[in-house]
Amino acid sequence: MSYYFRGLRGYACVSFMRPTLLFTLAWFLVLLPPFSAPAAESNTEDAALATEAVFELFEAKCNDCHGAQLTRPKGKFGYTMDLQRVAANEEYVVPGDPAKSELYRLVNEDEMPGKDSKEGPATAAEKLALHRWILAGAPSVLPDKLAQRQSSLLSAKSAAEAAPKPAQSLFAKALAWIGRFHAASTHFPIALLMVALVSEALGWATKKESWLSCTRLLLVLGAASAVNTSLLGWLNDYTGVSEVYKLHKWLGTATALWALVCVGAAILSECREGTPERARLRGALFVGAVLVSIVGFLGGAITFGLDHYNW
Ligand code: HEC
Repeated sequence: MSYYFRGLRGYACVSFMRPTLLFTLAWFLVLLPPFSAPAAESNTEDAALATEAVFELFEAKCNDCHGAQLTRPKGKFGYTMDLQRVAANEEYVVPGDPAKSELYRLVNEDEMPGKDSKEGPATAAEKLALHRWILAGAPSVLPDKLAQRQSSLLSAKSAAEAAPKPAQSLFAKALAWIGRFHAASTHFPIALLMVALVSEALGWATKKESWLSCTRLLLVLGAASAVNTSLLGWLNDYTGVSEVYKLHKWLGTATALWALVCVGAAILSECREGTPERARLRGALFVGAVLVSIVGFLGGAITFGLDHYNW
């Protein structure tokens, strides 16, 4: 047996060992990534693919809340499509180190996009692309097609900002500014109409006629402030188009008118205890208090979402 091997070794040295050595050497060169040309190429290719994927992720799942088109982007972060600027913000991205990059953490742990965003969380593939992108040094070079899309997405801001400004006169601007007091003024009708209802409830419970003057005062002030709040709401140049906003606007206007109906019921007749007029006043006031609560809730929901009070 050993004799046989010895003979074989002698043979191998000459005609088998040499090609094997060459072959191994060749493989070594190919597998040595930093020095071998094909591997370097696939690295840049990988980075380019990751950059495109990240651009598409940002466009699909971040741009609605963090885009240049918004006057008030969420978290004051409104340039998600500007990859260069995102990469340069060291609070978000540490190029080459995904683990230290807050942006990666936010997306990887599904904090962004938020749980209630309609886009849904980033997929595993999107998270991986973001990881690779940061690992590759967060490059910002995009292929032509995406670069064009990028510049139109980024110029949305100048378009949105440039358009209304020259058109808005000083008068319109002043009115819109006054309209900003809408949110603050809502406390008055809400509180006054609620307390008017409490006053009526006390009148009903104690049967004391004197509560009526208290109800009347609260109602007149409540209705006046409801009309005022409603007008300020119309002056406010809020540009939202959501269903919640529309409902708030129209129900709010209806509530102000309803408050006037209540005032009519309270002052046009004597409203003695036990009369149908008094019962009508109470019913109207109850409806008004419910309406003003719903409108107040919807107003909050425009900013904070319908699930704001979820436990
Ligand atoms: C539905 C809206 C929405 C979407 C979609 C969304 N975000 Fe946000 N984002 C927010 C809000 C709201 C904040 C502010 C949170 C806070 O301050 O607590 C925020 C904050 C951030 C911040 C921190 C800003 C800062 O400096 O504090 C980063 C970074 C961020 N988002 C990245 C992303 C990324 C990346 C995506 C897409 C993968 C995304 N967001 C999608 C709503 C959104």
